[in-house]
Amino acid sequence: MIDNKKVLFSGMQATGTITLGNYLGALKNWVTLSDEYECFYSVVDLHSITVRQDPAELRKRARNLLTLYIAAGLDPKKNCIYYQSHVSGHAELGWILDCFTYMGELNRMTQFKDKSAKHADNINAGLYTYPVLMAADILLFQADVVPVGKDQLQHLEITRDIAERFNNIYGDVFTIPEPYLGKAGAKIMSLQDPTKKMSKSDENANASIFLLDDTDTIIRKFKRAVTDSEACIRYCDEQPGIHNLIDIYSACTSKTPEEIVAEFEGKGYGDFKLAVGETVANTLKPVQDRFYELQSEKAYIDGIIKENAEKANYYATKTLRKVQKKVGFPERIR
Ligand code: TYM
Repeated sequence: MIDNKKVLFSGMQATGTITLGNYLGALKNWVTLSDEYECFYSVVDLHSITVRQDPAELRKRARNLLTLYIAAGLDPKKNCIYYQSHVSGHAELGWILDCFTYMGELNRMTQFKDKSAKHADNINAGLYTYPVLMAADILLFQADVVPVGKDQLQHLEITRDIAERFNNIYGDVFTIPEPYLGKAGAKIMSLQDPTKKMSKSDENANASIFLLDDTDTIIRKFKRAVTDSEACIRYCDEQPGIHNLIDIYSACTSKTPEEIVAEFEGKGYGDFKLAVGETVANTLKPVQDRFYELQSEKAYIDGIIKENAEKANYYATKTLRKVQKKVGFPERIR
């Protein structure tokens, strides 16, 4: 608890331009939850280097991502928006928690298996211990709640296991976090292959809507979206393409799938795809406009980066000192 408010932590990687999946699965919910909780939203750049990055590109993307957090509606005076690399406590707690995590647990992580298959020439130790660093991110702030998309639930599970193991040995050190999944949009699928999740790193640019895609591009990508052959709009597993479009429309409009099916009764795929494309474009337009405005406000963004890193460091250090003491490190002499 901070000032009688429960704590929320979440983060996003700056490895590519973020997608509609990241927006509907995470960022949009962050904005909704931000009044209720004391929030920490990190641009998790330590996580990004588990895959090779071009340094200048990474720096640029990280800055753009931080700016997008604000453009999406997170007030940086109320929400602590910061770069993970500016708070050394993440890496320090990560190391300690590595010593409380079993290889057998890490071997089960599906994201590790997927990423090692994708980057077979660079299966590094960081990729393997990635979930432990993620646990450190969350536990460092004693987070009660962590809003994420479905693909991160396994990492939340291991975070809880590590925290419980640590607490069993040393007493109540960590708050046990709960995941938060939005009502709609927790798993947005690729527009070209609706059995695969929409991803920043998809080689086919038509498969993903990027947050800064312009209206024409968004509508074109939806028009090309792979659908099914039944030619009617139903919400069922046999029609994964339409299922995905209904989920997207539902997350943007807050209408239920049943309401959407009723709205498009008797209409064809073409009409529906156009409606989804226009709705997504209208949803993203204000975020994009604000993003381009903020990009030119360099001093303002710099100020936020500095102030929020200080705030994040303050809370991170509190937990870190407690943990260091528990495991037996000598106290600092002041
Ligand atoms: P990342 O950067 O891959 O994704 C950021 C957030 O977006 C969600 N997401 C999706 N939601 C719905 N549909 C999709 N297709 C989709 N793709 C991504 C993710 O679930 C996530 O919530 N390991 C994390 C970053 C991280 C983190 C943390 C998150 C590091 N430390 C601590 C929460 C708490 C990741 O790679 O997310």
